Amino acid sequence: MDFDILKLETEEGIAKVVISRPKALNALNTRFFQEMDAMIAKVSVMEDISVMIITGVGKAFVAGADIAEMVDKTPEEGTAFSKTGQHTFRSLEKMEIPVIAAVNGFALGGGCELAMACDFRIASEKAKFGQPEVNLGLIPGYAGTQRLSRLAGLGNSLYLLLTAEVIAAEEALRMGLVQKVVEHEKLMDECLAIAKNIAAKGPAAIKKVKAVTRQGMLTNFDKGSELEAEQFGTLFKNEGEEGMRAFLEKRKPNWK
Ligand code: CAA
Repeated sequence: MDFDILKLETEEGIAKVVISRPKALNALNTRFFQEMDAMIAKVSVMEDISVMIITGVGKAFVAGADIAEMVDKTPEEGTAFSKTGQHTFRSLEKMEIPVIAAVNGFALGGGCELAMACDFRIASEKAKFGQPEVNLGLIPGYAGTQRLSRLAGLGNSLYLLLTAEVIAAEEALRMGLVQKVVEHEKLMDECLAIAKNIAAKGPAAIKKVKAVTRQGMLTNFDKGSELEAEQFGTLFKNEGEEGMRAFLEKRKPNWK
């Protein structure tokens, strides 16, 4: 597929996906979801890519779902639009490789939901977060009600959802919604450095630690621990043996 909204750049095993629809502050429309589905499929089969970064152009990461597209929808169409976004964001979460949100500006509504579907969030000091849907007489539609409380706790989640308050990056950090706040100009360099650091680890271990952690959050502690033990074992006589031998032999591991 031809990409109009998404731009893909690759560098040293890292895929950078840039959302570029600045006139609408990168608002999420149907075309975005089609392109994002295609981009997830494309990057997923790029064997040399270990980490993906998502960011936006201009002053927004994403200012939400496209209000102009939504305004005339019927209830049935509204539900379908919600399910489309939920499906895409779930696919993003299910990617084997880690996905980092490099939040460069407004991450509101669907934009905050997109950031939350990434594995973690690095924010520019200029970033702003919020779920302002109730201002529009709406609620989040891309599983924001579900992810926000899991990431930031029920009180923080309901505070943001009910007040529609737009918070600064430092406040998002305090709530646990964001993992790091960096100088605006250094955002991409910081994200690339984090991505390259991850890319240098055991590649199978990176995929497994993401899968086990995420699957564990969707099941219970005992089932998650069982899965952890199984996957832990698969790394022996495998990548884990090389990593442990390298440690004992005081050399860098050769992951091949
Ligand atoms: N959808 C469609 N267009 C949007 C948009 C959105 N979510 N957000 C901004 N735009 C458009 C504006 O309409 C404007 O277009 P025009 O130049 O053609 O008038 C352009 O982007 C620039 O926006 P502003 O002039 O408003 O820029 P600003 O700097 O004054 O304000 C802002 C920035 C505070 C982010 C403001 O644009 C804003 O409040 N946007 C809407 C945020 C919002 O409510 N998001 C939630 C959407 S609902 C949702 O996301 C539901 C869901 O979960 C599925």
